[in-house]
Amino acid sequence: MDKIKVMTVFGTRPEAIKMAPLIKELKLNKNIECVVTVTAQHREMLDQVLNLFEIRTDYDLDIMSNQQTLVDITVNVLKKLDLVIKKETPDLILVHGDTTTTLIGALSSYYNQIDIGHVEAGLRTNNKYSPFPEEMNRHLTGVLADLNFAPTINNKKNLLEENISEDKIFVTGNTVIDAIKEVVKDNYQFQNENLKEINWQGKKVILMTAHRRENIGKGFKEIFKAVNTIIKNNPTAEFVFPLHLNPLVRKAAYKYLKANDKVHLIEPLVYEEFANLMNRAYFIMTDSGGIQEEAPGLGKPVLVLRDTTERQEAVEAGTVKKVGVKEKNIVREADRLFKNRKAYLQMAEAINPYGDGKAVQRIVDFILFRYKLKGVKPESFQGG
Ligand code: UD1
Ligand code: UDP
Repeated sequence: MDKIKVMTVFGTRPEAIKMAPLIKELKLNKNIECVVTVTAQHREMLDQVLNLFEIRTDYDLDIMSNQQTLVDITVNVLKKLDLVIKKETPDLILVHGDTTTTLIGALSSYYNQIDIGHVEAGLRTNNKYSPFPEEMNRHLTGVLADLNFAPTINNKKNLLEENISEDKIFVTGNTVIDAIKEVVKDNYQFQNENLKEINWQGKKVILMTAHRRENIGKGFKEIFKAVNTIIKNNPTAEFVFPLHLNPLVRKAAYKYLKANDKVHLIEPLVYEEFANLMNRAYFIMTDSGGIQEEAPGLGKPVLVLRDTTERQEAVEAGTVKKVGVKEKNIVREADRLFKNRKAYLQMAEAINPYGDGKAVQRIVDFILFRYKLKGVKPESFQGG
C-alpha cells in the first residue's frame, strides 16, 4: 500500500476550527487521499469556519434543524453518514472532540469496521452529566477508537486508567494551537463594526460566551444577572458577547442583557475576529471548552462558568479558574480581577500547556507510521 484514504468527519464550529489545520496537512501529503465529510450539525457557524480556512467539502450531510434534539442529530447523522462510508470505504475515519457528531461518526465507522482515529482524546471530568452530553460522547468515542490522539500527557493518563492500550495512544498537543497561531496578529484591525466602535483605551472589555446545554435555564439566569452586577460594581467594565445561534441562548441573553448599554450582544464572529478579540480583551468569562485552551497561550484570565472542567492543565497553569454558575461567586471573582492587580497578573501570565503548533504534523506522521508508510515513529509532544 503506498496511499491510504483518510476521511474526516466533523460538524460544529469548534470541531471545524480544530480540524482545519489537520485537513490542510492531510491534503498536502502525497501518501494520503483526504475526503472531507461534514455533518453540518451546525450550519452558519460551520460555514464561517469552512470559508475562513477555504475548506472544500466532499460530502455535506446538511442535518441541522432548528432546536434539534440529541436524538435528531444521532439518527440523522447515523443514517446519512453510513451511505457515505459505504461509498468511500476509507482506511481511516478521523473524528474530533466530544460532540454528538463525534460519537456518531465513530459509531458509524465501527458499524462499517473501519479504523477510527479520535483527535483530542482523553479529556475527562469523570462526571457523566457534566458537560452533558460531551463527557460521555468523548468517553464512548475513546472506547471505539483505534488511534487516540491525546493533546497532553494528562489526557494520555486518563485513557490508560480506562485500560486503553498504550499503543493506541499518541500525545500530540492540541491542534487549536496550530489554528490560533495562523490567525492572531499584533496590531490586528477588526472588520466587525461593533468591535471597531469600542473604546479600547478607556474601557476594560470582558469577552463573554455561553452556550452549554446544562446552563440553559437556571444557569443562564444566574450568569446574566452576574454580568449586570459586575457592570454596576466596575464603572470601566464593558462586555462583548458574541451570541451562539441556539435560539434558547439568544432568548435568555436578550431577556436579561438587552437593556444594558454596556453589553454588546453581537452575532457569532468569524474565528479570525474572535481570536484577536480574545487577545485584546481584559479577561474572558465563558462556558466554552475550546476557549479554555486558547486563552492561556494569549495570557488572558478566564472565569469558567461551569461546575466542572476537563481542561485541568489550564487550571493548573493558573490562567483558568472554575467559578461555577452562581451569581455571587461569578461577581466575586470578576470584581477581584478588576480590583486586585496582583491577582489579575497572576492569572494573566502567558503559559501554554496545550501545544507548540506542531500537533497536526505529529498526527499525520503517526498515521503514516501506523499504516507503514513511514518507518520511524514520530516524537510525541513533551515526550508523552
Ligand atoms: C454543539 C455541541 C457542543 C459544542 C457546541 C459548540 C452536541 C450535543 N453539542 O452544541 O458539544 O460545545 O456545539 O458550539 O454535540 N444553530 C443554528 N446555526 C448554527 C448552529 C446552531 O441555528 O450554525 C441552532 C439550531 O437551532 C440548533 C441549535 O442551535 O438546533 C443547537 O445546536 P446543537 O449543535 O444541537 O447544540 P450546540 O449547543 O450548538
Ligand atoms: N469562536 C468563534 N467565534 C465566536 C465564538 C467562538 O470563532 O463568536 C471560537 C473560539 O475561539 C473557539 C471555538 O469557537 O475556538 C469554541 O466554540 P464553542 O464555544 O462554540 O464550542 P466548545 O469549544 O465549547 O465546544
